[in-house]
Amino acid sequence: MPADPTRSHSPSPSSEPHSTAPVLAVSGAFKSYGERPILRNVYFTMHASERVALLGPSGSGKTTLLNCIGGVDRPDSGEVLVAGCKLHALDADGLAEVRRKHLGMVFQFFHLLPTLTAAENVELPLQLLGIPTNERETRVRSLLERVGLTQRAGALPSELSGGEMQRVAIARAIVHRPALLLADEPTGNLDSQTGVAILDLLEEVVRETGAALLMVTHSKEAAARCQRVVHMKDGALTES
Ligand SMILES: Nc1ncnc2c1ncn2[C@@H]1O[C@H](COP(=O)(O)OP(=O)(O)OP(=O)(O)O)[C@@H](O)[C@H]1O
Ligand SMILES: [Mg+2]
Repeated sequence: MPADPTRSHSPSPSSEPHSTAPVLAVSGAFKSYGERPILRNVYFTMHASERVALLGPSGSGKTTLLNCIGGVDRPDSGEVLVAGCKLHALDADGLAEVRRKHLGMVFQFFHLLPTLTAAENVELPLQLLGIPTNERETRVRSLLERVGLTQRAGALPSELSGGEMQRVAIARAIVHRPALLLADEPTGNLDSQTGVAILDLLEEVVRETGAALLMVTHSKEAAARCQRVVHMKDGALTES
């Protein structure tokens, strides 16, 4: 159908020109497991401070895409740029460095280290970056206060509720001020009230830090809180 030249068209925030380089650029990514294509020619760009929801049926490849962006997996072909770093050109050590410096990750099942306290879990990314002890302690203390867990700093994950564990995980994911925060169903294992509180917190912390947030979710309510919604279907991304 030809385009209607009389139709007024207001560009969405995502189609406005950006003066800064993208935080994330995926170009022409393909990935198969065996004979089965999972990602087919994925193109996707995000800029600082954007919040994007990634929706799609179970098994459609959302986590696979997140893992390729997070440098824990690789596409078979195509390019992934995170904060200007070409992941496709890096070896395992290079990928680990990009993860430590530029990426934060939040998962459905929290993935906290069970033998470390809440404070030690939050401190770990700073230790890996070689941040001095004094600064580490200051940043961990202020972030635990920010997520409302000052009183639980010395607790082990097994002594925390699901919502508390996710707050620790969010603090850990942003303590090193990453450019991009990846969240894979961050409320999938929480009751709806706790889930709303976690979405509030995620939204607030990305606003405060200027990080971009890419969040996989099955929840329409969670998606509605994001500025952009992209759908994974048959291995390709479409934007609504
Ligand atoms: N390591 C692997 N080896 C083989 N197949 C895999 C592997 N990882 C994922 N898959 C398959 O790839 C497809 C996409 O998986 P993925 O985890 O990305 O889906 P998803 O969209 O995140 O689903 P869900 O909403 O259930 O989390 C699935 O069919 C899955 O079984
Ligand atoms: Mg998944």
